[in-house]
Amino acid sequence: MEEILEQYQTVALNDVQIWFNAGKTTDFPADGGGCVKYKGKQIAVINFERRNEWYACQNVCPHKMEMVLSRGMIGSSEDTPKIACPLHKNNFSLVDGTNLNGNDYKIATYPVKIVEGEVLIGFVD
Ligand code: FES
Repeated sequence: MEEILEQYQTVALNDVQIWFNAGKTTDFPADGGGCVKYKGKQIAVINFERRNEWYACQNVCPHKMEMVLSRGMIGSSEDTPKIACPLHKNNFSLVDGTNLNGNDYKIATYPVKIVEGEVLIGFVD
């Protein structure tokens, strides 16, 4: 199971080498998510319309290794945008992937930018 998680590493905006086109903004439901594949990785893309923000993170929940985060519930914890796993409700920051329930599980996050209606996700390779 560790190998699954090892392929997901947070990418900082300054480190982006490749902007992957994940689809059109209209492909992703408002205040919801969708899942895209990039080189064997499943990436959850979050259209957080209430905040007018977009996020991307690994789709696999590190708790039970289920590919479910794109179907999670989005919300805010104080001012931090977050996603709750639909299975056991672990909450993760969409900004830096930290677990907001105070346990060790965390997730990788990726930069997102919108260019002419296309959703671009930043990767290192
Ligand atoms: S599988 Fe996500 S919280 Fe358990």
